[in-house]
Order: sequence, then structure tokens, then C-alpha cells
Amino acid sequence: MSLVLLGPPGAGKGTQAARISQALGLVHLSSGDILRAEGKASSELGRQAKDYMDRGVLVPDDLILSMMMDHIRRPDAAKGFLLDGFPRTLAQAQGLDARLAEWGRTLDVVISIEVDDALAIKRLTGRMSCPKCGRIYHETFSPPAQPGRCDVCGEALIRRKDDSPEVVGQRLKTYHQETQPLIAYYQEKGVLRPVCGAGGVDEVTAAISKECQAR
Ligand code: AP5
Repeated sequence: MSLVLLGPPGAGKGTQAARISQALGLVHLSSGDILRAEGKASSELGRQAKDYMDRGVLVPDDLILSMMMDHIRRPDAAKGFLLDGFPRTLAQAQGLDARLAEWGRTLDVVISIEVDDALAIKRLTGRMSCPKCGRIYHETFSPPAQPGRCDVCGEALIRRKDDSPEVVGQRLKTYHQETQPLIAYYQEKGVLRPVCGAGGVDEVTAAISKECQAR
């Protein structure tokens, strides 16, 4: 199965991607996580992407497309993949479709997780994550058992630099301008499944699972 999770920053893509990919046996490919790992490794790509990410604007399409296609064509993704945060522009979506078509593949389902800007801001400004295992927390909605420590590996939790209120505002603006048009693009292709993202984590997981089973 090939699945895309679409939605604004803070919609819960990363949270849901971890659960859905595990349940369906898919490789979870998060463009944001891959870029942050490149940054940590001080690669040329990580260095080029950093300034864009810190400002809350998109990294250029050509860099993202070649990075993501490199991951999608790896053997572990052959049995199925879940894309989180990619594609994010019309050019990326068209580039992805064209490359998949070359391999005789298409996207099966695109889940659009819908939340309004006010909820997205509340979620992002309270987010904490584990730099070691990647588990995502929220200070109010899903706090760790021990304040500031990861439940899984005990590592000190961090806040993303781009979760500051100013950068979150820019990221939402970028989403509405660049990414929201993909909803109509995928609707036209007949693969779009909208899901309300405002409920609790379990509720949203159940709604996404239902749409995946119904495809
Ligand atoms: P990226 O890392 O992809 O960030 P994003 O899309 O802005 O999404 P987030 O990770 O912030 O939010 P999410 O929807 O995953 O929410 P989460 O599950 O964490 O991108 C970062 C940057 O990289 C971009 O700005 C850009 O510069 C660059 N980039 C990445 N991809 C690119 C691309 N394709 N092209 C160009 N540039 C690209 O949840 C958020 C919080 O809410 C958490 O605290 C969580 O615990 C909580 N939460 C989640 N669900 C619920 C729920 N149902 N109820 C209560 N709380 C919840």
C-alpha cells in the first residue's frame, strides 16, 4: 500500500504516521524527520535545508523530490510506504506521480487530516519530542509520565526551534498557500479521504484506519 498523510503543521501527521505505519506494516517516510536527521549529520543537504526550516518556509522542490525518491526506491519501501509531510507542493505531487508511474505504481490513498489554525497553534506550541527515539508528546494533551523525560528511553525531551509562535504563523501561511491546493489535486484523482483531526489521538487513528480499509 502507498499512503500519504496530508495536513497542516500540527494536524497530527507524525503522531498518526507512527501508529498507522506500524499497524499496516508500512515504512514511515517523514520528509521533516529526514531533513532534521540530515541536519544532525551535518550533510550538505542538511546544511542547505536548515535556513528554510528555521524560517518556516519550504525547502526547494528539487532537493526534496530527489531526497524522497531516494528513500521510496529503497528495498524496504517496496512492500509499502507512508509519506508524512511530502508532497507539499503541486510540483512535488506531480513529480511523485511521474516517478511512481515509471515504476508502474500509483498512490492508493491520500488522507487529509483536517484541523483549524487555532488548534494547530495550540498543538505545536505545546509539543515536545524525544531526540533519540522520536516519540512525540504534548505538555497538555499527551504529557510524559516524568516531566521533561521520554517514557520510552528516558532521554531529555526537546522543543523544535520552528515551534515558536512566530515561525508557526509562517508555517501555517505556507501550508495554506502551497500545500492546501493538493486537496483538490488528489480529490480529482479520486484518492482523497478527508478525516477530522480535532478528536483525540485514538479517535483520529480509528478514522484513518477505517478509510484505509475502505479503499
Ligand atoms: P515537518 O517536520 O514536516 O513539519 P510539519 O508538516 O509542519 O508538521 P509537524 O511535524 O509540525 O506536525 P504534525 O502534523 O506531524 O503534528 P504532530 O503529530 O507532531 O516540516 C518541517 C519543515 O521541514 C517545514 O517547515 C519545511 O521547511 C521542511 N519540509 C518538510 N517537508 C517538506 C517538503 N515536502 N517540502 C519542502 N519543505 C519541507 O502533533 C503536533 C502536536 O499535537 C504534538 O504535541 C502531539 O502530541 C499533539 N497531537 C497530535 N495529535 C493529537 C490529537 N489528536 N489530540 C491531541 N493532541 C494531538
